[in-house]
Amino acid sequence: MKQQIEALLQSAVAGLIAQGTLPEDVSFRIQLDRPRDKSHGDFASNLAMMLAKPAKQNPRALAEAIIAAIPENDLIAKADIAGPGFINFSIDRSHLITQLEQAYADARLGVPQAEQPQTVVIDYSSPNLAKEMHVGHLRSTIIGDAVARTLQLQGHKVIPQNHVGDWGTQFGMLLAHMEDVKNEGASTELELSDLETFYKAAKKRFDDEEGFADRARSLVVKLQSGDAHCQQLWTQFIETSLAHCQEVYDRLGVQLTRADVMAESAYNADLPKVVEDLKAKGLLVENQGAQCVFLDEFKGKEDEPLPIIVQKKDGGYLYATSDLAAVRYRTGALEADRVIYVVDARQSLHFQQIFTLSRKAGYANDQVSLEHLGFGMVLGKDGRPYKSRDGGVTKLADLLDEAERRAAELIAGKGTDLSAEEQARVAQVVGISSVKYADLSKNRTSDYVFDWDTMLSFEGNTAPYLLYAYTRVNSLFQKAGITLDQVHGDIQLETDQDEALASKLAQFPEVIASVGNKGMPHFLCGYMFELAGAFSSFYEACPILSSDDDALKNSRLKLAALTARTLQQGLALLGIDTLEKM
Ligand code: ARG
Repeated sequence: MKQQIEALLQSAVAGLIAQGTLPEDVSFRIQLDRPRDKSHGDFASNLAMMLAKPAKQNPRALAEAIIAAIPENDLIAKADIAGPGFINFSIDRSHLITQLEQAYADARLGVPQAEQPQTVVIDYSSPNLAKEMHVGHLRSTIIGDAVARTLQLQGHKVIPQNHVGDWGTQFGMLLAHMEDVKNEGASTELELSDLETFYKAAKKRFDDEEGFADRARSLVVKLQSGDAHCQQLWTQFIETSLAHCQEVYDRLGVQLTRADVMAESAYNADLPKVVEDLKAKGLLVENQGAQCVFLDEFKGKEDEPLPIIVQKKDGGYLYATSDLAAVRYRTGALEADRVIYVVDARQSLHFQQIFTLSRKAGYANDQVSLEHLGFGMVLGKDGRPYKSRDGGVTKLADLLDEAERRAAELIAGKGTDLSAEEQARVAQVVGISSVKYADLSKNRTSDYVFDWDTMLSFEGNTAPYLLYAYTRVNSLFQKAGITLDQVHGDIQLETDQDEALASKLAQFPEVIASVGNKGMPHFLCGYMFELAGAFSSFYEACPILSSDDDALKNSRLKLAALTARTLQQGLALLGIDTLEKM
C-alpha cells in the first residue's frame, strides 16, 4: 500500500515536471509516514514542503498541485492538506480489507518476497575466545540474529559470519598456563570449564611471575610458526571456548552454529598477501618500521594524518589486516551484495577506515554495500557499564541463569494453575525473552540501562506483555473451539476499534521492510507493542464470541487470528518463542 502511494506520488511529480511547475533537475525523496493521530489519515507526506523551494511556490499551493496531479486511482479515498503543507492520505477501506484477506491466506502474512534477492553477509556475535562471553556480547549476538531472520523472511540469502577472535598475543599466556596445568598432572578440561577464572589466573601470572611473560611470548611465536605442541594446546582451548559460546547461543535461541564460525585465524595465510597487494597498489607507507596506509579522509584532532597499521615492525599483523582480508573473502568467495557488521559503535572509525580502504584497494566495488550497524553500551542503574555484584564483568551465562531464576519467582508468585513442568518452560521463555526483548526494543545506536524490574514487567513494551497478549488471543480461540486458520467469512470494519486494529495489522510488511533496510529491530518491537495495544482496545470495546451477528463475529475472529499470527511471526523474528498459556 505504502509502495503504491509512493508510486502515485512519483508520477504526480513527473507530471508537474512535464507541466513545467517543477524544474527538470529537481532532486527529492518521497517520504511517507504513518501519522500517530488517526485524524491525520493513514499516511502523511512532507513532499510539498520539500519541493516548495525548487518550485518557487508556497507549500500549500504546491500540495494542491501535487494532489491534482496524482493519477486516477481507487486506492486513495481522500487527500487533505494540513498545517504548513503536509498531505494526508486516507486509504480506501476496501483496499485495506483486501490486503488483510490476502495476509490471512498467506503464510508470510503479506510480507513480499524480495524482487532482487541479495546475498547478505552478516558479521555478528564475534566474541574474543580468550574469555567467556560477557554482557557486552549480548547486543551483537541478538541484534545480528534478528536482522538475519528478517532478511531471510524477505527472501535474501543470509550468510552469518562469526568472526571470533582466536589469535593474538593473549593466547601466549593462556597456552603457558595450560602447559603448566598439564605438567602438574591436573585436568585441563576441568580447569577450562570456567574460562573466566582460567584467564584471570593466567593474567595474574603474566603480570607477577618472573619468566612467565617471556615464555608466553615465545609460545606465541611457536604457535605462529606452526609448532605442533602449541597448535594442539591452542586447538583444545579454542574448542572449549567455542563450546561455551554455543551453549549461550542455544540458550538465547540464536541461529548461530559451529558452521558459521569464520575465525580471525582463518585469514592468517591471506594476511601477507593483503599487505603485498596494498604495496603493489601503492597504498603502503612505512612509518617507524610499521606498514601503514594513510587515507586523506581520516585525520586526527590536530588534522594530523591517521594511519591504518596493517603490519607491525616485528612483522605481526593486526585486527585491521584480518578485516581487510575478510572483506575480500566476503565480496569474493562469498559473493556478497551487502556486508553488515553488527559491532559496538566504539569501533566506528575502524570500520569507516576498513570500508574506505577496501574500496580503494578494490576489495569491494561500488555495487557492494558495506554497513556498520553500531550499537551502544549496556549500562547499570548507576549509568556506568553493567557489572556483576562483585564488580567484575558479567558472564552472559550467569546473566541468563539469573533471568530464569527471577522469571520463575515471578510466575510462582502470580499464582498459576500450570503444572510444574509447564511452569519451568514458561519461566525459561519469559526469563530469556525478557533479557533479549529489553535490548532489542531499544534503539540500537544508544546506550541503555539494564533493569530487571522493567524488563520482567507485564506492563509496557516488554516481552512478558507481548507474550501475555498472545496467550489472550490464543485462549479466545480455545473458547471458540477453532484454530487460527479456521476462520471463515469476510473482514468488515464496523467500529473505530475494528478499523484501528485492521490498519495496524496492515502495517506489518512495511515494518519488516524498514527493519531489513536499516537493521533496526526496535522498529519491530515498537510496532508489536502498538499492535498489542490496538488489540486490547478492540477486545475491550468489541464483543466477539458473545456477538449474535455471525458475520461480525467471524470478522473479529479473523482480525484476532491475524493479530496472533503477526505477534508470533514478529517474536519469531527476534528469536522468541510464543507460549500457548502462561
Ligand atoms: N572480536 C571483536 C571484538 O570483540 C569483534 C569483531 C567484529 N567483527 C569484525 N569483523 N571486526 O571486539
